[in-house]
Amino acid sequence: MRGYRSGEGRQELKARSPKPSQKALADVLEAIGDAVYAMDRRERILFANRRALELWEKTADAVIGQRLLDVFPGIEDGEPYRAYRSVLSTGSPLQLETVAPALGGRWIGLDVRPGPRGGLVVVFRDIDDRKRAETAQRESEERFRSMLDALPQMAFIFHGNGEAIYLNRQFYNYIGREAGATPAERDRLIHPEERARVAAARVSGFKSASEYAVEARILRHDGAYRWHRIHNRPMRVGGRPALWLGTAVDIDDIRRTNELLEERVAERTAELEAANRRLATQIEEREQAEAQLRQAQRVEVIGQLTAGIAHDFNNLLTSIMGNIELLQGRLRGVDERSARLLSGALTATERGASLTAQLLAFSRQQRMNPEPVDLNRVIYGMASLLHSTIGASIRIELAPARGLWRTLADIAQLELVLLNLAINARDAMPYGGTITIATGNAALGSPDRPEEPPPGDYAMVSVADTGDGIPSGILGKVFDPFFTTKEVGKGSGLGLSQVLGVAQQLGGGVRIETKIGAGTTVKVFLPRIGGIAAGKSVAVARAHRRAEVQSRRTGGILLVDDDDDVRAVAAAMLLDAGHTVIEADSGSVALQCLDRDPPHVDLLIADIAMPGMSGGELARAARQSRPGLPILFISGFADLAAHDEGITEMVLQKPFRAEELHAKVAEALAQSAEVAGLSPAPAARRSLAEPRPE
Ligand SMILES: Nc1ncnc2c1ncn2[C@@H]1O[C@H](COP(=O)(O)OP(=O)(O)OP(=O)(O)O)[C@@H](O)[C@H]1O
Ligand SMILES: [Mg+2]
Repeated sequence: MRGYRSGEGRQELKARSPKPSQKALADVLEAIGDAVYAMDRRERILFANRRALELWEKTADAVIGQRLLDVFPGIEDGEPYRAYRSVLSTGSPLQLETVAPALGGRWIGLDVRPGPRGGLVVVFRDIDDRKRAETAQRESEERFRSMLDALPQMAFIFHGNGEAIYLNRQFYNYIGREAGATPAERDRLIHPEERARVAAARVSGFKSASEYAVEARILRHDGAYRWHRIHNRPMRVGGRPALWLGTAVDIDDIRRTNELLEERVAERTAELEAANRRLATQIEEREQAEAQLRQAQRVEVIGQLTAGIAHDFNNLLTSIMGNIELLQGRLRGVDERSARLLSGALTATERGASLTAQLLAFSRQQRMNPEPVDLNRVIYGMASLLHSTIGASIRIELAPARGLWRTLADIAQLELVLLNLAINARDAMPYGGTITIATGNAALGSPDRPEEPPPGDYAMVSVADTGDGIPSGILGKVFDPFFTTKEVGKGSGLGLSQVLGVAQQLGGGVRIETKIGAGTTVKVFLPRIGGIAAGKSVAVARAHRRAEVQSRRTGGILLVDDDDDVRAVAAAMLLDAGHTVIEADSGSVALQCLDRDPPHVDLLIADIAMPGMSGGELARAARQSRPGLPILFISGFADLAAHDEGITEMVLQKPFRAEELHAKVAEALAQSAEVAGLSPAPAARRSLAEPRPE
């Protein structure tokens, strides 16, 4: 190119090589991919190759020989033109990349060199596409960067080897310093407990070149660790991961809330479960209570019914028994044969009386004389009676407990209970076996069945057999009155109802344990009273109960009963014993009699249940005029009625024998003997009755 600069050089070129043709030179210039043109020092275009014309979009005719500024008016303010001027004045070549006004503002690479005879040779190429791509890339990177910086979470870009190339602003804000370029540095920010887990996740993530996430605590600038979810994903270029984008989202609050929520849920679930359990128990208790209530109501109704029957029956029996006894007295020594016949009749009435006693026991209306009892003594006391009743094919074993609690019970009733149970046991073992009568202490919780007692401490006596057991189908019915599986004439079905009646009247209950083929145990629970069993011996208690007070002649006895037959027979018994008897068939008549004849009445005998004025009311009224007057009550179902009336005096249970009446009368009179001296009076009977409506 030196040849272009001086004529001398050109001549040397000519001398050394064959002279190239104009055409050949033009071809060379055309073959160059770049645009080339030349100007003289007056800026006239001398030459332009095809590429230049193409870029200018001009024909050769339009430019060759023309001044540059004429062809491209208005380019003098552009950088290319200033570069021409500079090279023209300095003679030094210039290379630059710039925007060409002549090409509508496209980017060009410009090479300006001084040409021959003070002109210029300009080589330029269109680099607009590359330039724009570069700018776009820069802008895109800029945008990406500001996007990452705007993120509220930590973000970082790193190579496959873990080396970070960019950490966003939030990253610096969080850790408070420039750090974290190398994986080792970043690892130091992870809580020691999670470091291994994070490293393992990274290794496997990098190996499989797939995105992964891991939760870990990251150290904050103030020394606090907060939970983050670290999520790294490869950014693929041509299908291969070139860089990785990592983010770490602060999930500390969420985790805390979650934990709190889980705690709450657990608490609530536990509360709900507890409430559910309570509800289930309540439902069960309620069902039990309802079943008990139904049973109680049923028993109550039957109880009232049987009590009524027993009451009327007792009146009848009292009359029959009394009349027979009186007749016996009269026939004794006169007609012994008839007297014997009458004692047969008396035995029958006694059986009738025991049946009504059973009915009353079931309806819990029999009279009780509870006293402190040692159940061990009761079972020893009954042993011989049981042996004779049960027979030889069955063994009877006693198993008394040591340190047994005492209880309050009516011994006579208790004996009846045990006899009933022993007979049931015997009947359950037709081919022999063993009856075990045991005692024990029991602290009971809530009852499972209606016949069981309420929670508390009980002394217990049980009768166990080795019989066939009670089938579950009938177990629920055995306490029902009149339920029996025994053949007609063998069982009345009142035994267990009586047992339960006695136990419940004493504040206790009964439990049956039975297993088919193995046997049955019936346990009777009676409430514990203070201390260990020591009470009066049974023999002494019995002796006491049966203590008879000597009968003595009295003044008058006022006998009040609305039942004519009962009154008649009782009066006859009293007359027989030498008493003077004034009879009255109602409370009001009795009061009139008292008013009229006060000094002649030494004892008032009154039926408790009477229409109009009851025995209790009569007694209270009588006491107003005769405060010290002894009173003996008679009753067909004494206990509850007596209780309702607030009666604490002596009560004689119907039906009664003459000797029982005499004993009670003597006892009553003896008690009042200190109050007034009693003068003997002749036996006499006066009867007073209310005028009866026709
Ligand atoms: N130890 C027992 N083993 C097997 N079944 C029994 C036992 N005790 C009672 N039972 C059953 O319970 C039923 C009712 O007994 P409960 O004592 O009330 O009446 P009963 O024995 O049939 O007649 P009663 O006692 O009035 O003579 C009996 O008929 C029998 O089916
Ligand atoms: Mg029975």
